[in-house]
Amino acid sequence: MPVPAEYVQSLHPYELRILLALERLMRRYTWVPFEILKSATGFSESELTYRLGRLINMDMVRYEKTPYDGYALIFDGYDTLALHTLTKRGTIQALGTRIGVGKESEVYEAMGLGVVVLKFHRVGQRSFQAVRLKRGYMPDTGHCPWIFASSNSAKMEYEALTALHPAVSVPLPIDQNRHVVVMSFIPGVNLTQATLTEPGPILDAILDNISEAYGLGIIHGDLSEFNVMVDQEGQCWLIDWPQWVETAHPNADEILARDIRNILQYFKRKYGIDYAFDEALARVVE
Ligand SMILES: Nc1ncnc2c1ncn2[C@@H]1O[C@H](COP(=O)(O)OP(=O)(O)OP(=O)(O)O)[C@@H](O)[C@H]1O
Ligand SMILES: [Mg+2]
Repeated sequence: MPVPAEYVQSLHPYELRILLALERLMRRYTWVPFEILKSATGFSESELTYRLGRLINMDMVRYEKTPYDGYALIFDGYDTLALHTLTKRGTIQALGTRIGVGKESEVYEAMGLGVVVLKFHRVGQRSFQAVRLKRGYMPDTGHCPWIFASSNSAKMEYEALTALHPAVSVPLPIDQNRHVVVMSFIPGVNLTQATLTEPGPILDAILDNISEAYGLGIIHGDLSEFNVMVDQEGQCWLIDWPQWVETAHPNADEILARDIRNILQYFKRKYGIDYAFDEALARVVE
């Protein structure tokens, strides 16, 4: 869970400096040695010990004793850095409630220019934790994988939204920092939670949006009923874009076919609509 917003606000400038130093040093160390952190920040031993203690209590930093005294940034600390930057830029003023959670992300409401959505990408969190458990047996290779994977995933999603909006019905991309994407809030529900009185036109609209994206050179890559939302006006929205591929991708045909099949199968199962795959594909790539 991201850190409470008040933690971000109450963070001492020295603590912020430590988090930033850790972020930088974790390119080289999985566990940053105390002495390295001391020279990177320029703090006295007692100051650094005190500030690290607070960061550990706030669950932003983890300490390991073996094989040597080392410190690592963990997700709450990384969340804090992103929230700090987004607040400083004026993109958001406050973090609200959690509205969604997936395998590799957490989605929150926030106050920006009106209500906005913050998607925290969390790629490799589980494997990172597994590595952490077995850490005693791992070589200290550095290159913290979850930081790169998660920020890369956020960049990918932001890139797709920027390329697609507004031609395709996707959330408006507002900002991105580290592993966080800020986008407009969609006042609707997931397709899986809706019972459509007129499913036919929604299916058509979904296919037309896939087609529009395809025309812009982009295939969703993880499309299913779970990544479509519908609003009160009956408009559909395609969300969750980090795994998009270009239409020039070597497996593009396969990936596009899977996206389309997932949607067709859902409308067949739930609404009994028989839309032939070939016809749907032709509509998309026309
Ligand atoms: N812009 C948005 N406006 C309103 N709700 C959103 C928005 N983006 C996401 N959500 C909600 O959050 C949920 C999760 O978002 P999303 O599908 O993007 O990520 P995810 O499914 O967690 O990712 P993963 O596929 O890695 O598990 C959505 O199903 C939806 O209910
Ligand atoms: Mg999803």
